Amino acid sequence: MAGSRTLVEKMSDKEIKLELITILTTAISNCSLYSTDHSIVKAQAERARDMIMILMGENDETEMMIIDNDLVFDKEPFKERSIHLQNFIKKLQRKGIDKMIFKRGFSSEEVASLIGDVADIASSPTSYDHISLGAVEVRLESESEFSPEELENFREEQINKVKDVFSGVSRYKKLDITGLEDVVINFIAAFKKEVNILNIMTPFKSYTEWTYTHAANVAIITLFQAEALGIKGELIHEIGVSALLHDVGKMFVSNDILNKAGKLTSDEWEEIQKHTLYGAKYLLTTEGAPQMSVPIALQHHLRYDGKGYPRMSSFRSKQHIFSQIVTISDFFDAIRAKRPYKKDFEVVEILSLLKKGIGTTFNPMIANSFINNLGRTLNFN
Ligand SMILES: [Fe+2]
Ligand SMILES: [Fe+2]
Repeated sequence: MAGSRTLVEKMSDKEIKLELITILTTAISNCSLYSTDHSIVKAQAERARDMIMILMGENDETEMMIIDNDLVFDKEPFKERSIHLQNFIKKLQRKGIDKMIFKRGFSSEEVASLIGDVADIASSPTSYDHISLGAVEVRLESESEFSPEELENFREEQINKVKDVFSGVSRYKKLDITGLEDVVINFIAAFKKEVNILNIMTPFKSYTEWTYTHAANVAIITLFQAEALGIKGELIHEIGVSALLHDVGKMFVSNDILNKAGKLTSDEWEEIQKHTLYGAKYLLTTEGAPQMSVPIALQHHLRYDGKGYPRMSSFRSKQHIFSQIVTISDFFDAIRAKRPYKKDFEVVEILSLLKKGIGTTFNPMIANSFINNLGRTLNFN
């Protein structure tokens, strides 16, 4: 890597710091998709190590600190305008890290472990042989419970993010998958502060908001189920993003049909059912969309017993296990929402309806896990 090292040496101090932050931030995002063993992450860790070595110069260590939302390199505040810089600070704060000291002899493997630990929601980064981390205060604060206002703001922020991404959905525009990943990361982090997931869900407001609130709520219940089922790391991110996108096909169904107040004709009903096919087709060709988002979009209205829609003529429709999880989330949120033609069901009622569908509509193992875990967190049993 001597060539790239010479190139780095030609860069100014500011350029090296900016580049280092960009690489670390991108590597952390990549880690949500790949493992730390992936060649992309490995190469980024090596490049980050080279840059930190240059910053260290002749010294025995170099230090990065976060003070008042600013990044400080070896006691020198680094006040640059960069989205990566803000993201980087946010990612570290989320993990409760406010100081990193790289000591002479640190390896790119240690940098890769640090990147992996910051990316992994479930892990708590400690220190490594040649990299020590400082924290505590921020961490305690970030894990304290939400106040009612914080909770309200949190919900609103996430819905606005989902809205931003969805308003850009078209066959011709790139989907902002990173924006959706951020929402998923925020929901998982919120579970640590608020045990009652119903409080993180947004109540039904209006039909126009339904697209976004429903997507967010289905993602919350799906993440709750996935955690209870022991799904971790990369997969939990993917299932969260896929749940946000489960109804993306509705963006390709006309609003006149979606929002029709009266009874639907059979043609209109057929068109609505096609949101599953439209969604799967769109996600199949969408760069960065998790692979499992395709079966989830296609199959979330199928049932455990093979009934439901879309009907596949060539083979008996069998639901993918991730689609079975989302079917439960979809049912839960749809029935909970206050609709003019439906009663606003109490949670206990929804759970008893869920129980009735076990073995026919819902996968018994997954539905029972959800019912028991939700009951436990809400102290029903
Ligand atoms: Fe749907
Ligand atoms: Fe849905």
